[in-house]
Amino acid sequence: MQKAVVARVGDYQVRRCEREDVQAVININAETLPEHYSDYFYYEILAEFPDTFLVAEIDGAIIGYIMCRIEYGFSHLKRLGLARKGHVVSVAVAEQHRGKGIGTLLMQTSQEAMARRGATEVYLEVRVTNSEAIALYQKLAYKTASRLEAYYKDGEAALVMAAALGQ
Ligand code: ACO
Ligand code: ZN
Repeated sequence: MQKAVVARVGDYQVRRCEREDVQAVININAETLPEHYSDYFYYEILAEFPDTFLVAEIDGAIIGYIMCRIEYGFSHLKRLGLARKGHVVSVAVAEQHRGKGIGTLLMQTSQEAMARRGATEVYLEVRVTNSEAIALYQKLAYKTASRLEAYYKDGEAALVMAAALGQ
């Protein structure tokens, strides 16, 4: 069966992750980020939020992914009270494919899916030294909401960054 492409940039295609793609996602995560998760965690997120777990591929090879969750809690924007929030849990593009717009497309496509699920904002945590990722989020209108000291196991701080969705 043809897999449904949801977006394209150049020869790259973005489509929903499927169960058989999860191992490739785990491999990209292992190569690109110090934050790893149990295999179970990926399959759980995929089962619960299949429309916001996307992969990017070229010539049948997966070279990037984004996985997100929908949560309900206090707004990270200057809004009062509770909000339905999209949470970008992890996004990565294999090093040799960066700078071609794939990260941007993964973010935008998952944000559209989170908005369709009723999220009014989106947030994420990012290492304070991760300037490429911070530049990507700023380009997409994310603002720093707070800073979490010693958020990562190695002691580094995180920025919580958030943006409004669907307005
Ligand atoms: N230096 C500075 N900024 C950069 C660079 C760079 N080398 N590369 C990309 N950017 C910024 C720019 O703002 C760029 O926008 P522009 O091209 O319009 O100027 C923007 O990122 C988007 O570039 P893309 O090509 O769309 O993004 P890319 O496909 O390169 O993916 C990503 C960006 C996902 C951050 C990638 O660098 C990556 O995988 N890094 C390692 C993993 C990682 O750090 N993931 C994020 C962790 S935080 C989290 O997961 C919530
Ligand atoms: Zn997070």
